[in-house]
Amino acid sequence: MVYISHRQQQERNREKPFFYPALLRLAACLRRTTLPCLAAFTLLASQTTVAQELIVQVNKPGAPIKPTMWGIFFEDINLAADGGIYAELVKNRSFEFTTPLMGWTEHAATPGAGSILVLNRSAEKPDNPRFIRVTHYTDAAYTLTNEGFRGMGIRQGETYHFSIWNRPLPGAGITLRLELQTATGAVIGSADLALTNTGDWKKDTISFTATTTEPKAHLTIGFEGQGAVDLDMISLFPEHTWKQRPGGLRADLVQLLADMHPGFIRFPGGCIVEGRDLTNRYQWKKTVGRVEDRKLIINRWNTEFAHRSTPDYFQSFGLGFFEYFQLAEDIGAEPLPILNCGMACQFNTSEVVPIPDIDPYIQDALDLIEFANGDASTKWGGLRAAMGHPQPFHLKMMGVGNEQWGPQYIERYHVFTKAIKARYPDIHLVNSTGPDPNGARFDFLNDTLRKLHADILDEHYYRKPEWFLENATRYDHYDRNGPKIFAGEYAAQSDKTVSVDNHNNWQCALAEAAFMTGLERNADVVQMASYAPLFAHVDGWQWTPDLIWFDNLRSYGTPDYYVQKLFAGNKGNAVLPLTRQGNPLTGQDGLYGSAAIDTTTKEIIIKLVNTTAQPQRPVIRLEGIRKAGAPAHAYLLTAAQLDAGNSIDNPTAVSPTDFSLDCKAKKLEPTIGPYSFLVIRIKN
Ligand code: AHR
Repeated sequence: MVYISHRQQQERNREKPFFYPALLRLAACLRRTTLPCLAAFTLLASQTTVAQELIVQVNKPGAPIKPTMWGIFFEDINLAADGGIYAELVKNRSFEFTTPLMGWTEHAATPGAGSILVLNRSAEKPDNPRFIRVTHYTDAAYTLTNEGFRGMGIRQGETYHFSIWNRPLPGAGITLRLELQTATGAVIGSADLALTNTGDWKKDTISFTATTTEPKAHLTIGFEGQGAVDLDMISLFPEHTWKQRPGGLRADLVQLLADMHPGFIRFPGGCIVEGRDLTNRYQWKKTVGRVEDRKLIINRWNTEFAHRSTPDYFQSFGLGFFEYFQLAEDIGAEPLPILNCGMACQFNTSEVVPIPDIDPYIQDALDLIEFANGDASTKWGGLRAAMGHPQPFHLKMMGVGNEQWGPQYIERYHVFTKAIKARYPDIHLVNSTGPDPNGARFDFLNDTLRKLHADILDEHYYRKPEWFLENATRYDHYDRNGPKIFAGEYAAQSDKTVSVDNHNNWQCALAEAAFMTGLERNADVVQMASYAPLFAHVDGWQWTPDLIWFDNLRSYGTPDYYVQKLFAGNKGNAVLPLTRQGNPLTGQDGLYGSAAIDTTTKEIIIKLVNTTAQPQRPVIRLEGIRKAGAPAHAYLLTAAQLDAGNSIDNPTAVSPTDFSLDCKAKKLEPTIGPYSFLVIRIKN
């Protein structure tokens, strides 16, 4: 059998439209009634300002905009969890990687000074079977070094908490000499930890402060004294995690999420839900309880792309389902877990569990609802309470399957829906329409799930920027009474899906903004949307583009991030009609727009996206506004070049500026510069 990688499959399946001959694409554009394809992203010869009259009917609020409208898609891809938002600095802390000492190196000052034995106690501890036995025989120096995740990001003045499970063997007298070192071996923090012999496993901790900032430090553990000691769960965390939680999350990365004011957070993916095969699917029950009892498995992105191979990518599940729910609560987002429905990734093995054997998968879904919402007297609600959260997490929706397709998915839809709705009729279920927003697989699922009256359909689109412009009207003609839409994964691709040459450039972000005006205009149908993927480590990524990039110390939002943030921070709670010559603004003269009202702050919110190289100066008439000449405030996101972007060293090159706008009588005449996204808020 010929192995077809996820990447090759996705290229085959998704990219065909982009390989159409240019003439076909031009013809497709000409067939359209509006002109976005021709006007958008073209450098027009003249720089004259285009004038058009736009009407916002302030007194005619339409569809409500749900608080969940703009959210976050979290998947452990690109070192998003271990090596990313999960602030653990030690890689392979429990020696459970396939190669037990991956990430660790041993150094003996003289040969035979010490030794390491990897022991496996799988019968006794099936979820954390391995530990190491280190024996120090002489006075000669003997050390173990952990390299961290592409190094360890260490900050001057920060306190680091070291912990280690240990069991010295009889007669041992070992003190650990802990040193944080720079790449060149300079010591930038140290502590000594004497291990006492109780005959059993115990966890010891010690804290110390770093003297220097270093993005690529490593941790060296020296063995002083002689004898043998068993070691496991060797861990190092900074003090200043998000909300100062011990063993918590990286504060700067969570802050970027909180700043987006997301309406929901989808977790844990993505294809990671499915696994390459069912053995390596995501199983939430193995991610809760004590961290030392969470069973590590390989990360499916470890081997996915030969050109971005990441052999040290595993899932420790230090960030597990309890922490995901807690994160959602912290940042004011509705939790949206996605569960495996008995199907492994169809880009890989397509393994399915037979329907007669599917009960444990369904039980996982039912138990998750109890874990999130059940009271402390229930089995799973009790575990949540024991983990420190007696109050429920108020789970309201759940995804069944990730990016599944085909009749096997419909079979599983039936059994999951029946069981979940019988017990929890108020839980809304999200169902897949496959990896593409059109084509036979999409049509089959879309038609079938609509006939079955599914609650919410999850659509995915990784497409060229032009697709986003052409599809700003995609939802204008959707059935208003059918299932709601969750634009669950989308991102404009500057090159093509899964290409390493994709960049988070301004052209892509601008196209997404134009498209998102179409989502907002159709808020009665589209009730949730999330860009994907979310995070990428600059030295450890597999997939690009991504919303937020980071290294071991720093992080930045892409232009796409600022688009998401502007939409989520300015969403309003009802759609207002915004028209030009009686039609929605969907690309006429390259201009896209939507409007909303926020009845709590009493503001009108107008979003305009100019996809052309010309400035535009529309006259915006505010029909029915109560306060003539009300103050207006604007947020502008723009860049001189379509290929502009942000970077670790220049994190806000493309980021919003804000200013006041004149709102004379009942009209506004803002200038929207070339390639610009403008948000205007007007008091009503
Ligand atoms: O976002 C990256 C991947 O794209 C997701 O894991 C998957 O659902 C989609 O194919």
